[in-house]
Amino acid sequence: MSAPIRTAIELFGGTEVDPVPNPYPAYARIRSEDGPCLLQTLMNVSYLITRYDDVRTVLHDDARFSSRANEDGIGIIMGRTIVQMDGKEHDLHRNLISPALSPRALRGDLQVRAREIADEIIDEFIGDGHADLVKQFSFTYPLRVFFEILGIPRADHDRLHKWASSFTRVGADPAGALDAAAAMGEYLMPVVHERRTTPTGDLISRLAHAEVDGVGLADEEIASFLRLLVVAGAETTYHVIGSCISALLTHPDQFNRARESNSALLSAINETLRWESPVQMVMRETTEATSVGGVELPEGASLVVALGAANRDERQFDDPDRFDIERTPNEHVAFGLGRHYCAGSRLAYLEATVGLSTLFERLRSLRLAPQESGQIVGLAFRGPDRLRVEFEAEAPRA
Ligand code: HEM
Repeated sequence: MSAPIRTAIELFGGTEVDPVPNPYPAYARIRSEDGPCLLQTLMNVSYLITRYDDVRTVLHDDARFSSRANEDGIGIIMGRTIVQMDGKEHDLHRNLISPALSPRALRGDLQVRAREIADEIIDEFIGDGHADLVKQFSFTYPLRVFFEILGIPRADHDRLHKWASSFTRVGADPAGALDAAAAMGEYLMPVVHERRTTPTGDLISRLAHAEVDGVGLADEEIASFLRLLVVAGAETTYHVIGSCISALLTHPDQFNRARESNSALLSAINETLRWESPVQMVMRETTEATSVGGVELPEGASLVVALGAANRDERQFDDPDRFDIERTPNEHVAFGLGRHYCAGSRLAYLEATVGLSTLFERLRSLRLAPQESGQIVGLAFRGPDRLRVEFEAEAPRA
């Protein structure tokens, strides 16, 4: 490793646990250099991959770039899950879980139920004429939809949400994250066990009874997968909903266009996914000596694959720092690519379109509160911490 090793603080101006305001100038500098730079992370020194083409190459070639890189990070907290598996093991597990999150499984009354949940949450604050839409809407709404799919009783939502949030603070509080993982496991195991004997048609029941070629998932495998899903459901969609509201309220002409049709709203969601990717980076490890972007990498090298940097690459996107809901094509990599492409992307789109369209329909004259900038923050996960807005106060629905 001959290139200088840089820390996240030097590059991005924050710390790994403190919100980073704007990583994009640093990403742009690194993209313009000769090849991937070296980044000191919590666990080790990694190559930071920032160019769109390099990110595509790495994510599409899982033989050279393995996901076992996730064993030491997310794997310690979640247990063994598909994000750290390669090859046949990944095929088997992905095939077992995919049907439970497929468009077919998401049909039925889920759209209607998501709308009802969004309405119930909005009813709690619509009479006030003001709200913090992160705290009072986007933080809880996608998770409530997802817990319904899982079949988790309403009374248990809050503690599951608290455990999931602890996972994502693993950098700041590793012991707290491990305790939360254990507590969630203790909660989930009896539920899994019960659904094996008495299936109820929810997602946990589907997972408990899923089989490929006569092979199913063990209880502990299901519990680990559920831990992953709860975090995926808790920490991602809420960020894209918050960032999309922030982006539209700070670009009022585009806000008007986004409200004209479902397809315009979907374009706004896609542009938000590109412009402020909720998951900024994923991890990989080289399985052999190889090269990326003209730089030689040894076997076993750790890679931080910066989706957020690829999505702002000027070689791929015109004027990449501009938020533009009419951008076409918009082939962002916010859901990853290749065999690990996000298994929950359909659900994320469903939750975001229903949640945002309900908000925009019901909150009339929606605008940012005075002094609210809508600032989006974070390095690993990005989204606004708060979003104070004003609107015309109305009585909740009867
Ligand atoms: C806007 C919301 C979301 C974003 C931006 C997002 C992003 C991602 C990304 C980038 C990956 C690839 C990880 C890698 O390559 O190592 C991924 C994988 C995954 N996501 Fe999502 N995700 C979102 C929502 C969800 C939801 C709602 C769920 C399910 C409840 C979910 C479940 C998963 C699963 C299970 C994987 C692992 C797939 C595999 O390893 O084969 N995601 N997601």
